[in-house]
Amino acid sequence: MTNKFGIESVLSILDLSVEEVDELVATAEDIIANPQKYAHRCEGKKLATLFFEPSTRTRLSFEAAMYELGGNVIGFSSADSSSASKGESVADTSKVISCYADIIAMRHPKEGAPMVAALNATIPVINAGDGGHNHPTQTLADLLTIKLEKGRFDHLNIGVCGDLKFGRTVHSLIDAMSRYEGVSFTLISPEELKVPDYVRNAMINKGIPFVETTDLEGSMPSLDILYMTRVQKERFFNEEDYLRLKDSYILTAEKLDNAKQNMSILHPLPRVNEISVAVDDDPRACYFKQVRNGKYMRMALILKLLGV
Ligand code: NCD
Repeated sequence: MTNKFGIESVLSILDLSVEEVDELVATAEDIIANPQKYAHRCEGKKLATLFFEPSTRTRLSFEAAMYELGGNVIGFSSADSSSASKGESVADTSKVISCYADIIAMRHPKEGAPMVAALNATIPVINAGDGGHNHPTQTLADLLTIKLEKGRFDHLNIGVCGDLKFGRTVHSLIDAMSRYEGVSFTLISPEELKVPDYVRNAMINKGIPFVETTDLEGSMPSLDILYMTRVQKERFFNEEDYLRLKDSYILTAEKLDNAKQNMSILHPLPRVNEISVAVDDDPRACYFKQVRNGKYMRMALILKLLGV
């Protein structure tokens, strides 16, 4: 998205073309091979991490990314410690931060908040997760992982399992992968946690093959990738529903017996109960690699948006 000041922001993974994703993947691979080459690229630049919602990976990954590029970081990690608690609007906060920093990474519980920031800021804004909507930089981590594990983005049957309704990483992953030839989705969830209509309709309009099912084990043999997700406790209106649904799917070593030998298991983390710890030793488990890949993709994205 480009605002009235001509500033480019990334709010959705679809703000990046397929070619731009390829460029980011190539940059990330080059960073992995030659980290020294990039160690001073962002000297004198500041990243502001504006996190109105809890985070471990995303915030620290952005911070590690900026430090590894030689830049600095300012920011806050909860709404309570920002002027939002005094009633300041996101629009005003983003105008203020534009006076201090060169780029913003924002996470917010309200869908669309980073868009409001991007419309008002005079520096690029990266959506680091907005409510149950989108999470484009998690998808960049997922994409690099898929590229490194599978060597391609096309002709893959991607199983997505868990909370497909509120899981913002799921929505962005479907957007991203829907652009490649021969990709199909197996959407595995309880009835109550199926993908929102706008996500389903987008797949229908693009002619993407997908099935919706409640059956994880039955789906297993056909999957090239299994993307597990946490039931998003913080988005539920009542605790009873959460308690009833939270353990709908638990991936165990036994359930993987019917999976392809080269299936890749992804998870954006944090894990609660969805993957038993015994699965971590399975060579198909990629979720900790995904964390590392996220940092390199965020480095590549910061470089691109700062034009350095
Ligand atoms: C995800 C998120 O915040 O949406 N976490 C992350 O950024 N890696 C997934 C989740 O919280 O379940």
